[in-house]
Formats: sequence, C-alpha cells, structure tokens
Amino acid sequence: MLPRKITLGVTGGVAAYKSCELLRRLLDRGADVQVVPTTNALRFVGSATWEALSGKKIHDSLWEDVAAGAHIEIARSTELLLIAPATADFIARLAQGRSEDLLSATALTVQSPIVIIPAMHHQMWRNEATQANVTTLRKRGILVMEPAEGPLNNGDTGVGRFPEIFEIFDYLSAHNLLRSDLIGTSVVVTAGGTREMIDPVRFIGNLSSGKQGVAIAKAAAARGAQVTLIAANISPELLPRDKSISIISVGSTADLSRELQSVVNFDYLFMAAAVSDYRAAQLSASKLKRTGADLSLELVENPDLLAIFAARHREQGDNEPGRSHRGIIVGFAAESSVDVEQAAEKLTRKGVDYLFVNDIANQAVFNSPSNGGFLIDKYGSSTSFDYQSKDTLSDALLDVVAKALS
Ligand code: CTP
Repeated sequence: MLPRKITLGVTGGVAAYKSCELLRRLLDRGADVQVVPTTNALRFVGSATWEALSGKKIHDSLWEDVAAGAHIEIARSTELLLIAPATADFIARLAQGRSEDLLSATALTVQSPIVIIPAMHHQMWRNEATQANVTTLRKRGILVMEPAEGPLNNGDTGVGRFPEIFEIFDYLSAHNLLRSDLIGTSVVVTAGGTREMIDPVRFIGNLSSGKQGVAIAKAAAARGAQVTLIAANISPELLPRDKSISIISVGSTADLSRELQSVVNFDYLFMAAAVSDYRAAQLSASKLKRTGADLSLELVENPDLLAIFAARHREQGDNEPGRSHRGIIVGFAAESSVDVEQAAEKLTRKGVDYLFVNDIANQAVFNSPSNGGFLIDKYGSSTSFDYQSKDTLSDALLDVVAKALS
C-alpha cells in the first residue's frame, strides 16, 4: 500500500540540502511528511527551511515531549521511514541499535519499512566497517540504496553521491513502496455535492462532504497521475494542496456541466459528486419572505450529466477511433438498499464502465472517514469492499479500475 505518512530522517551530511527537493517531491505526490533531522543535519539545513517546506513543525529532540515519548508517537504514525542522506556514522549507530537521539530511537521503534539513502565520501562508503554495517542493516530487512557514482563534494569522484531524486523514486517503486502506475495518465474526479439556489441565501443541497472524491484525487496523484478535481461545495480545509491536483470549484449542476464539457482527453473519470436531480424552476432574486401560508416550490429536472458525458465520449471514440478517447468512466451511486441488479441497470442507463455503489442505509457514509460498498463493471462482475478508510478504499478502487487501461 502506498505510504502516505512518511517520516523523513535527515542526518548531518552536506547532501542534506538535496533532501529539501526530495521532501518537495514527496509532498507533490500527496505524502504527509514529518521531518526528523539530527542535530548535525540542522548545521547544514536549518529548522526554518524544513518547517516552511513541510508545512509542519519538525521534531529533533528526544527530550521535547517526554511524557508522550516523541519517538513512539512518530513511529506509531509512520508508514515509511526514509533516512536521506544517511551518514556513515548514522548507519554505524543504527547497526549497533543505538538510540541516543530522536531519529535513531524512532528507527528502533518503527514497524514500517525503513529505507536508507547513504551519501558520503567514496572511501568512507567503501570502508570495511561501513560495508559491514550496511550488510547488517540489509540482513535485518532495512533497505539500503547504493549511492550514485560521480563527482563528490570535495572534488573527488567515486561511489558515494546522493542519488538523483527520480532514482530514489525508482528505488521506492521497485520495492513496492511508492506506486507509480498512473504516471502519464490524466484523471478527472468530481466530488462534493451540487447546490441549486432557491433565493440568494437558500439552496437545495445534499450531505455529500466530498471526502471520497478528494481521497480518490489524492490517491491518483500519489500514484503519479495529473489530476483535475472538480469540487462542488467542498470545505476548503478538505481540499488537497498537492501540486499535481488542479482544483476547479463549482456550485450548481449547471456549473458542473459547463466544466465537464471541457473535459475531452482523460484516462479516468471518477464521477463521485452527488449531483442534484432537480433545481428550482424560478430563482428568486431576493430572499423569499414568510407569507403566513404554505409555500410550494416548483422543481424542474436537471440533465443527467454523467449519462450525457458518457454518450458524448462514446460518440467521439466512434468518430475518431484510435485517438485518445479511451477514458474509463466510473459512476457512483448512494443507495439505501443495495441491489446488484438495480446497480447493473443504473450502470447501463448511465453508459459507464464501472459503478461504485455505497450502501447508505445507516447514513454512515456521509462526512465519515470510512466507506464500503461494491464496484460493478459493464460485463457484470462485481467486487465488494469492506468498510475501510476512504483513503485505502480509493487505492483499492484504483487497483481495479487501472487494470482496465493497462
Ligand atoms: N449524476 C449526474 N447527473 C445527475 C444525477 C447524477 O451526473 N443529474 C451522476 C452522479 O454523479 C453519480 C451517478 O450519476 O456518479 C449516479 O447518481 P445517482 O444520484 O445515483 O443517479 P440517479 O440517476 O439520480 O438515480 P436515482 O434515481 O437512484 O437518484
């Protein structure tokens, strides 16, 4: 599973400045990164830089939150401990199981994979003691990347350089620690709920928070996709900040329809937004007043955006076969009673490739961090998903859907 919670340990080598770029690239891919520098790392790159880049307070001392045990707290939430650069000294201390600073104590505590990116002078790297320590760490299941070969800081040349960032990403991918299966793909996600205004202050809306769509957008970005998130009335604090996600904010079904019309080339469309089926026949220019009598509101039907989009997409594909009109379309349905046959009928009516059906019988889905349901495809097969976090569910959905284009 893609690690979202990464602890980036930085030790006292000159390559610490290269780790700033590594940090930015991890953030771009949707990771939540806690930086833990050693005291010597802070001689090369100060805490202000790490905090500004990560958007988080750094932790650098075992003595800062003694009651909670800082290393235990950090270790508990870490899904990947990445130590870059790792000096010969830090590698030696790790091999001995020392724990006198926060980073080494964290490394002894974590249950997650540990990846070490060494960087040092080539003679230190080749030294028998360093090599023995690296062998010890590898025997314990710690992943130690080979340093790159090339010019070193003092003018010498050899094996010891901090690798290029893309090489680190390749290494993580090769060890199944960072998925890159969506690199080069374009993913469009609609999320949230549309609002149909009745007067300047009132609207017809729904309970959708947008969390599931946002989770899909983040998961796709973390796997390398360029993502467009069309966000219908989502609270700003829920919106992702990843650079690879462009956000378009919409209010009503008509706004969403306009934005969907400009979506032409895409690999995957996840139509997770809850779209209002009706809107007020008249939009009152001023706030409606109490009249002392009952009030009836006339509603008119909204178009089925998904069905229209899917039909247009098919038509374009028929007219221009072989062009990039190959996108996979996933619809979403929230049903009070879950019935595979009804879902299959809805999938056909919408003309989509997949339909994900959330069971909302107990209302647990809206605004909740977890979700479950089943995904059916146009050939009739169905995959069910237990209740799980919307983040993990998103990865699981992408696993199934991404196969359709590979
Ligand atoms: N949808 C849409 N336009 C609408 C209504 C829904 O594009 N006017 C999309 C939703 O974004 C979702 C899918 O269609 O991906 C299914 O939504 P749902 O509300 O379950 O579909 P309806 O056709 O409205 O079916 P129902 O009668 O069960 O509400």
